[in-house]
Amino acid sequence: MKIFVTRQIPQPGLDALKKEFTIDMNLSDRVLTKEEIIKGIKDKDGLLCLLTDPIDKDVIYAEPSLKMIASYAVGYDNIDIAAATKRGIPVSNTPGVLTETTAELAWALLFSVTRRIVEGDTFTRTGNFKGWAPMLMLGQDVSQKTLGVIGTGRIGTAFALKSKGFHMNVLYTDEQRNEQLEQQLGARRVPLITLLKESDFISIHVPLTKETFHLIDEKELRLMKKTAVLINTARGPIINEKALTRALSEQWIFGAGLDVYEKEPEISEELKRLDNVVLQPHVGSGTIETRTKMALMAAENMIIGLKGGIPPNCINKEVFHKKSIT
Ligand code: GLV
Ligand code: GLV
Repeated sequence: MKIFVTRQIPQPGLDALKKEFTIDMNLSDRVLTKEEIIKGIKDKDGLLCLLTDPIDKDVIYAEPSLKMIASYAVGYDNIDIAAATKRGIPVSNTPGVLTETTAELAWALLFSVTRRIVEGDTFTRTGNFKGWAPMLMLGQDVSQKTLGVIGTGRIGTAFALKSKGFHMNVLYTDEQRNEQLEQQLGARRVPLITLLKESDFISIHVPLTKETFHLIDEKELRLMKKTAVLINTARGPIINEKALTRALSEQWIFGAGLDVYEKEPEISEELKRLDNVVLQPHVGSGTIETRTKMALMAAENMIIGLKGGIPPNCINKEVFHKKSIT
């Protein structure tokens, strides 16, 4: 069987795939266009894609021989899952292996903003540090403050649990109660409005869906404390970036730490000019260990899926129910 890989992933994943399949891989260091992906999957049985690939109906229906899609990401808002399900194609993602890594980046951003790490680094490097000063680069304490976690799935839960050493008051929003957080941290599930008004630090951990698009807009930003810090390691369009840029430049809030953007990889000049935002290039899962695990996981799903089994991280298991009924 033959598979198409839309971009080079860590070698252990490719080695596992090479043992089983003939691989055709995009060797250029850039994102392919939809048309290039459609060309790539011609006569292929499997597609290994990334979160930057638009896997819409056109791609899913382009190649009759396509039987399996393994994505090298946990988020799958870039894939038309309904279309894949309708065509009977299982789609897998990489949950779990990147949970702690992404939660760690959210904390890194939180501290970078509250203690003004990036500003301080630039200040020091450029020769502005003339000695200790009582009012220099003052930030904010983290310990004993109120932490607001929007979405307590795997990553949101891991992020919240890491607050333990800082003895924080933890608020969260989620469709479901999170007993682990309530028991271990005394966390309270509250309406979003309460979380926005009462939290000192707010971190977003929901997937991007129709319901979460612009979940944080002007109205929500205006509810936050003037000292609030907003962190987003989930998906850019969950925040109205224009409204956030205004909130940061007019100092409705203290600052923000972003790993994801509304029109990735485009970022407005206005946002880039601001000192009170720390910007990362979508590297939430970006550690050597985790990216290797993600590659192995995507490969394992592809191998099992193409051999006719149920991929362990299949998102649309309905595909198999349907098959067994018909
Ligand atoms: C990263 O953003 C992922 O969804 O894996
Ligand atoms: C999202 O994938 C999460 O694990 O919270």
